[in-house]
Amino acid sequence: MEIVIKKDYEQMSRFAAEYIASFIRKKPNCVIGFATGSTPIGTYRELIRMHKNGLDFSNVIAFNLDEYLGLGMDLSKPYSQDQSYHRFMFEELFNHINIKKENIHIPDGLTNNPDEFCKAYEDAIKEAGGIDLQILGIGGDGHWAFNEPGSSFESRTRIEKLSEQTIDDNYEAFYKNAGFSRDEMPHYAITMGIGTILEARNLLMLVNGYKKADIVAKALEGPVTNQITASAIQIYKGVATVVLDEEAASRLVHGDRHHYKSVNI
Ligand code: PGA
Repeated sequence: MEIVIKKDYEQMSRFAAEYIASFIRKKPNCVIGFATGSTPIGTYRELIRMHKNGLDFSNVIAFNLDEYLGLGMDLSKPYSQDQSYHRFMFEELFNHINIKKENIHIPDGLTNNPDEFCKAYEDAIKEAGGIDLQILGIGGDGHWAFNEPGSSFESRTRIEKLSEQTIDDNYEAFYKNAGFSRDEMPHYAITMGIGTILEARNLLMLVNGYKKADIVAKALEGPVTNQITASAIQIYKGVATVVLDEEAASRLVHGDRHHYKSVNI
């Protein structure tokens, strides 16, 4: 695992975008696992800027980590009434780059048959040759995607009940601003499993801000536990790069922060 500490959110985002762009330049048809949430927005803005300067997404294949159950690509709703991750991805990235629609895969929270859908999603990842680079954040409860505390490290794409903390966090970050009540927030999601994520060939985990400092220190340096599913990074066999801003890195204790800094910057 390589830990990169950047001064602030902007520098973290720039580094992450450059890292992703280098994959695309090396392998134009690479398979990228995209993440949602407030953390990657800056990275996606940078990627859009790079696209305007020539970065070509026309052969990139995208698989998103998760989607709320009951939400999906519902074009009948205006954006203001739709907090789906479909909307998020199109609004924050896909509408602004030249990725082909047929290359975009996001779990369909509107499916009538979630079990079948989840199996087909796993099959589609395999058919695409597996994920070359999976982008990840970390939830306030330590989750990767919507793999809430207690999820098996062997878990696959499935329906997961959101933890109370995730509901609170995502309500504050998204739903409240859009004028929804907490009860209107979905309590279930379709999510790639930890087992699915651990099969990606490279991981890029992004974390910013003091509010994540404790949980990311536990995930990276504490015991490996399914109570903090992002701690699975410690048993990951591929190439994992963690990019933190100074605030998020402020509670790393076991490893010397100066060591992380000196080897990575
Ligand atoms: P956030 O969410 O980027 O909005 O903090 C991260 C996550 O839940 O994984």
